Amino acid sequence: MEEYYWDNQLEYLKRTRDLYYNDDYLEFLVNTVWKVSKPVHIIDFGCGFGYLGLKLLPLLPKGSKYTGIDKGQKLINKAKEYFLNLPYETEFLVADTNQIELENKYDIAVCHAFLLHLSEPKEMLQRMVNSIVNNGKIICFEPHWISGMASYELETCKQSQIVPLGVLQKLFEERTNNTGRDGNIGVKVPQYLSELGVKNIECRVSDKVNFLHPEKSQLDKQKLYYSLKEEGVGGIPGDKDLFIENMIQRGISSKEAHVQFEAELLFSQVFNMDSSLIYAPNMKITFGEKSTL
Ligand SMILES: C[S@@+](CC[C@H](N)C(=O)[O-])C[C@H]1O[C@@H](n2cnc3c(N)ncnc32)[C@H](O)[C@@H]1O
Repeated sequence: MEEYYWDNQLEYLKRTRDLYYNDDYLEFLVNTVWKVSKPVHIIDFGCGFGYLGLKLLPLLPKGSKYTGIDKGQKLINKAKEYFLNLPYETEFLVADTNQIELENKYDIAVCHAFLLHLSEPKEMLQRMVNSIVNNGKIICFEPHWISGMASYELETCKQSQIVPLGVLQKLFEERTNNTGRDGNIGVKVPQYLSELGVKNIECRVSDKVNFLHPEKSQLDKQKLYYSLKEEGVGGIPGDKDLFIENMIQRGISSKEAHVQFEAELLFSQVFNMDSSLIYAPNMKITFGEKSTL
């Protein structure tokens, strides 16, 4: 049987999640923005190894429950392992969220870096809304790739030399045109939710700005550098001809493909553990309430 892609991405998931939010910001969201004051049953669509559950459960009122659904059997096994000795009531389901029928019994439906991988994200948002009780909340943490790409600063290079935003903007838009999958979905979720009748919609942005700096301790530098590499920062573009061919197939011109290749090559050459680099992922966090009245 073919291996499921995400089942082999545990290392990537584990190494990159810390780039997005400071713990105190998540605490602020739970207590001050969402004002969750009573125990809740939360369902996490595309939960992976249970990242959001591990972050949110310690912040939610005692007695809260967590249900995680993912297609990846290995990821769900990991999630079960991580929660095994923790004092939370949990339930994990290996399932395709497009196919599973869920009762509308959850207080909060959440997802993190999930909708961008789906060809019909708005339908999934509808399923998420369907899974919650009246007055329940839906909360989506999703990327906005182009604003993440705009948020790099590497000492020694001009931003335009390493991140050609116009080319990337076109590449991201072509990906959505061709596959329905949208890396900029984060910034579209507010509109989609309003079209689905969700009320009191607000959108925030992730707070974390990562700063790699030569003066950090060796251990901190190492940890952040490898997280950034895993995120794709300064990745090696590989064989030039193949790269160009692939880019052209993805909908940009030969000239733009060359610009992108040179930018990625330069970035990969100048970026190392002793670089001074700032990177803010700029995830968008959209939330609202279901109201059937
Ligand atoms: C980028 S990962 C994010 C995982 C987790 N939310 C996190 O942030 O660590 C995307 C996840 O969505 C899951 N996924 C994608 N499509 C799915 C589907 N149709 N049904 C269930 N899970 C799905 C994948 O298995 C993968 O674990």
